[in-house]
Formats: sequence, C-alpha cells, structure tokens
Amino acid sequence: MRRTRWILALLALTILLAACSKTAPQNTMNPAGPTAQTEKNLLVLVLWPAAAVFLVVEGGILLISIRFRHRKDRDRMPPQIHGNTRLEIGWTIAPAIVLAVIMVPTVSTIWQLARQPADAMQITVEGYQWWWGFRYTDPDMAVNYGDHDAIVTADVMVIPTGRTIDLSLTSLGGGAHSTAGVPDHEVIHSFWAPRLFGKQDVIPGETNHIVFSADAPGVYWGQCAEFCGLQHGRMKFRIHALDEADWQRWVANEKDPAVAPTKDELAQKQGMDLFFGNGGVGGQCIQCHGVGGTAASSTAAPNLTHFAATTHECFAGCDFETFNPDGTPNIEALKAWLRDPNAVKLGAKMPDYGLTEQQIDVLVAYLYSLK
Ligand code: CUA
Repeated sequence: MRRTRWILALLALTILLAACSKTAPQNTMNPAGPTAQTEKNLLVLVLWPAAAVFLVVEGGILLISIRFRHRKDRDRMPPQIHGNTRLEIGWTIAPAIVLAVIMVPTVSTIWQLARQPADAMQITVEGYQWWWGFRYTDPDMAVNYGDHDAIVTADVMVIPTGRTIDLSLTSLGGGAHSTAGVPDHEVIHSFWAPRLFGKQDVIPGETNHIVFSADAPGVYWGQCAEFCGLQHGRMKFRIHALDEADWQRWVANEKDPAVAPTKDELAQKQGMDLFFGNGGVGGQCIQCHGVGGTAASSTAAPNLTHFAATTHECFAGCDFETFNPDGTPNIEALKAWLRDPNAVKLGAKMPDYGLTEQQIDVLVAYLYSLK
C-alpha cells in the first residue's frame, strides 16, 4: 500500500517535471513577439496575487484542520459560532478589491490586443479537419497568373519579421466528402502559437482576429487548441518568420505558377499526368487539391502549388516533415501518406486510392518538383 503510494507520487512528479524544458518550442513563458509578451506580462501580474490568495486560503484550511482536529480525550463539542458580521464584510470586500484592481490591466490589455492597425498585413487563416490553410489577401500579395488570386499556403504560414500581421480566422469544411461545393466537417478550432500569441477560437461562419508580429526570424510552432475531432491533437502548424531579403524571395517564388515538368523529366511528367488525369488514368488529386497556374483550382485540401518550397517544412497538419534534417526530400513519409493516408492519420479526409508503388513513385517525383 505504502509502496504503491510512493510509485504513484513519483509518477505524478515525473509527468509534472516532463513539462519543464528551456528549449520547448511552444512555451508561453518564452514570448517571441509583442502580443505574446503583453499576454505574458498580464499572466505574471495576475499570478502573484493569485498565488498569495492560494497560500492564505489553502494554508488556512490546513492550519485549522490540524489545529482543531478531533482528539481522543475530547468528549464534548467546542462552542458553536453562528455569523460574524465583521469577518463576513471583510471577506466580501477584500476579494472585490483584488478583482477590481486586476480588472484594470486585464481590460486595458484586452482593448490593446483587439486593436487592428490599418497598415497591418492581412492573412486569412482557414481551419479544416485537420490542417490549416493560409490566404494572403493583401492586393500586393496577388499571384501573377490567372485571375490574380491570393497566395495560398498550407501548414506553414510564412511572414516577414517585424511586420504587424492581422489574421482573420475562420473555419471551413472540405475534404473529399464535401459534395457540389457544400462543405462538411465545419467545426470549431482554436489557433494558437504560444510564443507569438494566445488562443483564439476559429468558428464556422464567424471571423475572429489575432494581431501579432515576430521579433526575430525563426520557426514558431503552433497547434489547434480546441477539440475538433479525431485528429485534433495532430492539427499543427508552423509560422516561419523571414528577414526582408528572404521574405521578398519567398513572395516572388509564391507569386509564380507551378512549374510543369518537361518531357525529359519522365517520372515527374508521368506524375503530373496521373495527378491531372491526362490520358484517362488518375485525376482524383485535382478534385480537392489546387495547383496554381493549372486547371486544378479546388480549395478543399491543401494547395500544392509550391509543395516543395524549402519553407514548406511539414505537411498534413504538420503530421510529417516534408524534408529530412539534411534537406533532402522526405520521400518515405510522403510515400506512406499516399499509400494510405488513414494509416498515417486515422480519419484523414484524403481517401486511399489504392495507388500502385509505381504510381506513388511518379506522384512523389511530381510533388517534389513543385518548388
Ligand atoms: Cu482543430 Cu482541434
């Protein structure tokens, strides 16, 4: 009995300590931008009075229950007290004062974070089951082909360091099961990149906002923070902050359409034909995926125009890395995904099309040509 208790206590301590890490990529206490910094300041400010109240109340409970506990030689009830006006007024007024004081910085922070500067860069965040889409809606972020639509990415949001970004959050349906433009799977998500900003709900039919910026170039991890179905826990994303030169290069590349492989690039060409169904075989991919500058324009699944851009470092809700640590394509992960998406991520909206190994090879070749 005693031993079990010790083991349980040790186990609890291990789990608690496992949460401590100085290098954790999603650490609210290590802010990397003004929004997260403001939120942390408020958190710390409220934490101290909260800790004091906790110690007084819990300490009092412990002290009283030990000091006035039942003893063997005590055979009569202690005097029973009913009401104490001074005490009751005191413990009503004291918390009211504490709350009123905390309310001042809290409300002012809420107003401060809700400000939407007119010169902020506009990005629409679209929540799907279970991945994130990003649409750059500013006029100067339109692509230079076709109908000059917005730059669209999935899984990784690329931003310029130091620029204020105004996110418009919404939840959309999608996937192979939506019919005739009527989306399904519209559920509530929550968008959260702990080092850059706190949680904000992503609600179908509503538009919420997050205004933030990143202080330094780098990759900031985020994830869905509202239970949204089977793969909620693996609905991740990354925010890639680039310095000005890298940012300009990225924008220029994203504005270009996908480069179609030539006849000489046989595997890539075969993959493209299968992807689009040229020649009567395949063509399922374009029912959901869009590829800029081609006939594939669906938005039900991640846009693949620049699937193999180096900034696109993860896929399928950041379920797997697009590149190996040495920078080579992570072909095995993509192959496993194409073989059977549900075996990788149960419930994924991409069906298993029963592709042959040869078909998978050429599709992988095509996708990794989309730089
Ligand atoms: Cu999306 Cu949880």
